[in-house]
Amino acid sequence: MTLAKIVFASMTGNTEEIADIVADKLRDLDVEVDVDECTTVDAEDFLEADIAVVATYTYGDGELPDEILDFYEDLSGLDLSGKIYGVVGSGDTFYDEFCKAVDDFDAVFAGTGAEKGSENVKVDLSAEDDDIERLEAFAEDLVNKV
Ligand SMILES: Cc1cc2nc3c(=O)[nH]c(=O)nc-3n(C[C@H](O)[C@H](O)[C@H](O)COP(=O)(O)O)c2cc1C
Repeated sequence: MTLAKIVFASMTGNTEEIADIVADKLRDLDVEVDVDECTTVDAEDFLEADIAVVATYTYGDGELPDEILDFYEDLSGLDLSGKIYGVVGSGDTFYDEFCKAVDDFDAVFAGTGAEKGSENVKVDLSAEDDDIERLEAFAEDLVNKV
């Protein structure tokens, strides 16, 4: 069975909800899914997965959340060749650097040798119906790449 691991950072819950939407869709597609908050897992845990997903909000002025920095640094040292990755997240279009942390994780994943399974999905605050459709299509893309 295909295994997906979704690691998220979420302060007010929007990104956790996004992670859960992706997880539910993956489960519908017969994928086994773990969803974990970023401070409770190690980046190395992605070595066990077929599909690696990060869901993150953006803080400061286009910055990564503090609590995901260690995970981000550890991820950059991994060899994830043969795996599929995807990145989603929440931000606020009020800020100049909308969802910049999503792009930062995309770049670091690309450096691990993993294959990008879908375009990044960026959500303005909490997921609305059209965002849910995009997140479900993201999950389908990932599965189709495995
Ligand atoms: C102090 C502060 C700085 C923020 N900076 C950014 C930013 O630079 N870019 C962005 O897209 N969103 C920014 N946001 C918005 C959050 O990413 C957004 O509220 C998001 O939905 C939070 O996700 P969460 O509910 O999972 O914690 C900022 C929010 C706060 C409170």
